[in-house]
Amino acid sequence: MSMQPYTYGEVHGPRAGEMSRRGFMRRMLGVGVGILSIEFLAGTVAFLWPNIREGLGGILVLGTAEDIAVNQPEWPEGLPYVFQSKIFVVNVPAAKARVAENSSGQVEADVTLPVPDPGTDLGPEVPLADRSVVALYRKCPHLGCQVPQLCDQSQWFECLCHGSKYTVIGEKRDGPAPRGMDRFAMIFEDGVYKIDSGQIEDGPPIGSETFDGRGPTDMPHCAA
Ligand code: FES
Repeated sequence: MSMQPYTYGEVHGPRAGEMSRRGFMRRMLGVGVGILSIEFLAGTVAFLWPNIREGLGGILVLGTAEDIAVNQPEWPEGLPYVFQSKIFVVNVPAAKARVAENSSGQVEADVTLPVPDPGTDLGPEVPLADRSVVALYRKCPHLGCQVPQLCDQSQWFECLCHGSKYTVIGEKRDGPAPRGMDRFAMIFEDGVYKIDSGQIEDGPPIGSETFDGRGPTDMPHCAA
């Protein structure tokens, strides 16, 4: 008696090693979604990148004290000059006098307003509060929001995102930020103030306290 060869019958679907039309379409869809995701990511980074770094990294010329006062007439009165929308240029003696005038006697200053020429004590060897001009980076050291101009009520810089607060020379006084506001190196050459925006210095550590010893509960604020 002869034996019949055993078979599995008809097998449906593509042969081993071949891809079905549905599988092919699925794979193509996955590749398409992947490409679109990469393009979206690249576009987002390209859109945001100039806002973070544009114009920074080189020597930025501010001009003489008179030039700065033309651009910010209240600079001799202690209101910081917003340069290229990214940096606060602070006339420190004037800013200290402005804080003193608005602090109901809580802060004292040894000069009176206006201060048209703050001087040239700019180097890192000069203690922070004794420098004549400081260039503070407006990018909040907490999560990077842009810090607005000085708050009228407190005469501090107050970040509206999460409430970090800094004195007018960038020392941290309140909120979640890990340190004071970062700053750029200042240069004075031939009567002209310049910023070396390639040299950024971390803000002072929490707890530093110089001319403005007020605490967060000592006055009204702009940020909660
Ligand atoms: S980003 Fe300024 S406090 Fe959070």
